[in-house]
Amino acid sequence: MPIATRIATPTDVDDCARVLAAAFADDPVMSAIWPDQHRRHRALARYFAASIRNFHLPGGGVQVATDEEGHLRGVAVWDPPGQWDQPISRTVRALPELVPAFRFRTTAALTVRRTLDEHHPRTPPHWYLANIGTHEDHRGQGYAAQLISDRLAADPDTAAYLVCTREKNISFYEQFGFEVTGTITLPVGAKPMLWAMIREP
Ligand SMILES: CC(C)(COP(=O)(O)OP(=O)(O)OC[C@H]1O[C@@H](n2cnc3c(N)ncnc32)[C@H](O)[C@@H]1OP(=O)(O)O)[C@@H](O)C(=O)NCCC(=O)NCCS
Repeated sequence: MPIATRIATPTDVDDCARVLAAAFADDPVMSAIWPDQHRRHRALARYFAASIRNFHLPGGGVQVATDEEGHLRGVAVWDPPGQWDQPISRTVRALPELVPAFRFRTTAALTVRRTLDEHHPRTPPHWYLANIGTHEDHRGQGYAAQLISDRLAADPDTAAYLVCTREKNISFYEQFGFEVTGTITLPVGAKPMLWAMIREP
């Protein structure tokens, strides 16, 4: 089945948010922010739509993978080199969309953001893979692999960084040359352990 990847446009945001919300429904980081499963499932699509629209789309690094009929099956949210650290002005603009998603979990979300930012490497310049997800009915068909390899192939001389949220996914990223450089323990919820991974140029 031929897979195509392209840069997301504003009209893709809701589809991207739906795919990522389903993919991250039981993700350890999302579960730390919203321990209540019902609330988490209700909040995630809203959160991802706000996050993509306000933080990631402007950098031009959000990629979608589609099937031969153009249906969106996978999403990779990348920030270009030097653009992972979001300016406060964007956060302020995003608040009207973010606050209804986080509600009483806003403090937990800010703690997660601060912890990830503190561990984020300052050098070398790198692409940052903030989120990647494939629709659960279409896993194992190469969508995520295509999204990662197209991004890396487009800029092979620049490093890439990500935070792996599940131990079982480490080997998935290792296929593309990422290596674990350390661990991060989130100080909220069930305090999940995460793995920082870098791919050198
Ligand atoms: C992780 C995820 C993005 C992989 O997406 P996918 O489209 O199913 O992956 P692909 O089909 O491109 O897989 C490519 C290869 O990696 C393998 N692979 C897929 N998931 C893997 C995993 N978790 N661990 C190890 N290998 C994996 C596939 O078997 C395939 O191998 P092959 O080329 O030898 O057949 C998907 O499972 C997902 O959305 N998970 C939920 C969200 C999530 O965990 N995101 C990442 C947070 S760190």
